[in-house]
Amino acid sequence: MLAFIAKNMGKPVCCVKPVSLMKLPGRYLAHQKTLPHLPIPPLQQTLDKYMLALKPLVSQEEWSHTNQLVEEFQTSGVGERLQKGLERRAKKTENWLSDWWLQTAYLEYRLPVTVHSSPGVVLPKQDFEDRQGQLRFAAKLIEGVLDFKSMIDNETLPVENLGGKPLCMNQYYQILSSCRIPGPKRDSVVNYSQAKKPPTHITVVHNFQFFELDVYHSDGTPLTADHIFNQLEKIWGTSLQTNKEPIGILTTNHRNSWAKAYNNLIRDKTNKESVRSIQKSIFTVCLDAPMPRVSDDHYKSRVAAQMLHGGGSRLNSGNRWFDKTLQFIVAEDGSCGLVYEHAPAEGPPIVALLDHVVEYTKKPDLVRSPMIPLPMPKKLRFNITPEIKNDIEKAKQNLNIMVHDLDIKVFVFNAFGKNFPKSQKLSPDAFIQVALQLAYYRMYGRACSTYESASLRMFRLGRTDTIRSASVHSLEFVQGMEDSGKKNQEKVDLLRKAVQAHRAYTDMAITGKAIDRHLLGLKLQAIEDLVSIPEIFMDTSYAIAMHFNLSTSQVPAKTDCVMCFGPVVPDGYGICYNPMEEHINFAVSAFNSCADTNAARMAHYLENTLLDLKQLIHHAPKSKL
Ligand code: COA
Repeated sequence: MLAFIAKNMGKPVCCVKPVSLMKLPGRYLAHQKTLPHLPIPPLQQTLDKYMLALKPLVSQEEWSHTNQLVEEFQTSGVGERLQKGLERRAKKTENWLSDWWLQTAYLEYRLPVTVHSSPGVVLPKQDFEDRQGQLRFAAKLIEGVLDFKSMIDNETLPVENLGGKPLCMNQYYQILSSCRIPGPKRDSVVNYSQAKKPPTHITVVHNFQFFELDVYHSDGTPLTADHIFNQLEKIWGTSLQTNKEPIGILTTNHRNSWAKAYNNLIRDKTNKESVRSIQKSIFTVCLDAPMPRVSDDHYKSRVAAQMLHGGGSRLNSGNRWFDKTLQFIVAEDGSCGLVYEHAPAEGPPIVALLDHVVEYTKKPDLVRSPMIPLPMPKKLRFNITPEIKNDIEKAKQNLNIMVHDLDIKVFVFNAFGKNFPKSQKLSPDAFIQVALQLAYYRMYGRACSTYESASLRMFRLGRTDTIRSASVHSLEFVQGMEDSGKKNQEKVDLLRKAVQAHRAYTDMAITGKAIDRHLLGLKLQAIEDLVSIPEIFMDTSYAIAMHFNLSTSQVPAKTDCVMCFGPVVPDGYGICYNPMEEHINFAVSAFNSCADTNAARMAHYLENTLLDLKQLIHHAPKSKL
């Protein structure tokens, strides 16, 4: 699993203990060089698996038609030619996929990063309800991130393992001092961490006003939490009024509109310097106003929305720069979490950093740092022309529509955690995925194309591939489960088969043998070779297979938190979960504009389904499992 555990060292790295101060220069690159290259699966294997993956999703007629197209793809030699092209690419690059994936999945994606791409994390409510508490916690959190950063800088970050294999650690080097920049057709990402003079400041936002806060002394030592607290108080004291022009809202817009507005914004020298300061900063801390009060039942869902979009132009959305890779959010009422821009990294490294920081914030301050005079943090100024004002107004309108459209439900499934499936010798992740298939089937009476992220970090610069959770076996199980004529034991057998098939797909995916990225590679190779796009990619079945009504991910953490993200299609769900030992945290999202989806309803079905599965197993003879 991907939780931040250095299994080779035998103990977790939840760092209350001090991090290594010893630099290990070159350790990171030396490790990276030992990692294998991402393989290209055999063509025939991918095509066979593709046809199998389509079975639960398309009609027999569509399947037969696609089968013909696949045969033509092979017999015409087109497939082999593209495969050879991919193999040549693999020889020339460190990872044949990673740059293509970065471009197509993220930088060329034109919908707003807010809700549509950037995940949020909901932390447990912190124990404060006022400004003092908010600033103390934020100061400690900043100190904790700097502590983690020292492990990155010193190259002492323990190498993670998955299934006994060491993982690529590159993403850790991409998440600090980096930022996305909008472009007219495609965005880019800048990373200042390897600059000659790496940045020494973070950005703090309060009342929609941005500040540059230096977090290192001139001798290179980081500020302590006491010092940071004083600096945050100064920031707070000079930003008592909400800024009339929430400049950060511009970053919530459609990427093409934002790219236009961006060029307009940075034409002014002061604006350009302010934007550059945000982009360069190590990370951002958003000191939010309290959220509107809601019942305990809705609290976590409300925080999730706050993390994903900030609550709208009248609430905290202006307190963000959504292009910034990492933004920690600390509100006056104790609600906390983060939002991150997805292009540089997946959830697990972000959550590993968060686990470290959360542990760090619990550490008592044994000595108070002597007070020393520190310069006033610099306010980042913006000159707002009528044109920029107009861009902000348009962005506000679009954002508020998006805010109303997001339907999100965060809940804790308390009946059991990963211990239960483990006790039954079942993979917890596969068990949850099969439960999701059943919940969806009970709601819609059919299977749907389902995406689960699988890590490719066993390979150098690896990102993700797709585990296709809707399989022939999962469909047989959900149909069997709903068949009143079937005996419990038969249902349990079908469940076990479906769980095992899912786990087998997972093993295939994490070892680079899944089909989705390979098919994408073949398609992009055709585009690069300037040949016509093969029919198999223009086919209805392909469109159905790529329309992920369920977009899911497991992001395990030690902290009792949950990651959340929006659906990837207008009529779909985004489902993320953190399986703890005795409970599971879930975040389910949908869009209100789709009459057929409802996050709370899906959550309800999922809860009942998980309970039913436990019941089912308990009523079956033990020996069978
Ligand atoms: N019997 C008993 N225990 C079992 C078992 C079985 N049959 N199968 C698995 N387990 C145990 C595992 O040993 C593991 O134990 P641990 O908690 O002591 O480590 C635990 O159950 C969890 O295993 P499992 O549920 O199978 O999942 P996993 O941890 O291997 O994770 C993925 C599966 C797909 C989530 C993981 O491989 C992955 O790729 N994660 C990346 C996800 C990602 O990048 N998301 C980013 C989105 S932004």
